[in-house]
Amino acid sequence: MTTLATLNKFKKDGVKFTCLTCYDAMFARMMDKALIDTILIGDSLGMVVQGHTSTLPVTVNDMAYHTANVARSNQHALIIADLPFMSYVTLPEAIVNSRQLMQAGAHVIKLEGGSELCELVTILAQAGTPTCVHLGLTPQSVNVFGGYKIQGRGDSAAAKLLADAQAVVAAGAALLVLECVPAELAKAVTETVDVPVIGIGAGADTDGQVLVMHDMLGMAHGRVPRFVHDFLTDERNTTHSIEGAFALYQQSVRGGSFPTEQHQFS
Ligand code: KIV
Repeated sequence: MTTLATLNKFKKDGVKFTCLTCYDAMFARMMDKALIDTILIGDSLGMVVQGHTSTLPVTVNDMAYHTANVARSNQHALIIADLPFMSYVTLPEAIVNSRQLMQAGAHVIKLEGGSELCELVTILAQAGTPTCVHLGLTPQSVNVFGGYKIQGRGDSAAAKLLADAQAVVAAGAALLVLECVPAELAKAVTETVDVPVIGIGAGADTDGQVLVMHDMLGMAHGRVPRFVHDFLTDERNTTHSIEGAFALYQQSVRGGSFPTEQHQFS
């Protein structure tokens, strides 16, 4: 079974690891067989499962329901669950909602933001709840950003993101996710912090990679982001199966053939 200690050792040894989003039992079993290292029950379920145009309508009960479905069907992966939009604005509600997701089967709770999360990150760590802080393009803030745009471009934005990453790690964050940031910045963050960093649209130098499962199975709805690769129809997936696609993703990330330059931003 993958634990935070496993991921820390991967980082130390330079072993790249995988993460995929997952929302139900059947796919969780297939990811178990493919030995996907970590699973994210992402609030992206609002878009790919519930049909919303953003992650904002997702509730804590939705997250707990999908987390439980996944957690009871996968023994290999470290399970990360998202606290959804506006469910961690105050410390008391953040604590109660984190407890609900941990009791549903999560091993780590993911939060979107920066240094403003430090107090919460410390309290949760002290209470036995490791956190993963998601920086860069944080989809819960789509209305602040005015769309899904690359973050951390330019010296001051890059410096702020690096400072936020250092602050949350100093506060006790166990993992970071970097979404849609220039590859050079992601490399700098990964080399600076001593916790594993998982990237999506953040280049090849992060410690791990995450993709939304539907995207990597070629089921994207609308525009396909440049960081996505379709592993289902990839000719190396000789079984043409979903399990084969998961296994190919695992091999590609471990072996360093995914992502490539074409999947990253500058
Ligand atoms: O909700 C999600 O799927 C995510 C990933 C895109 C990292 O946060």
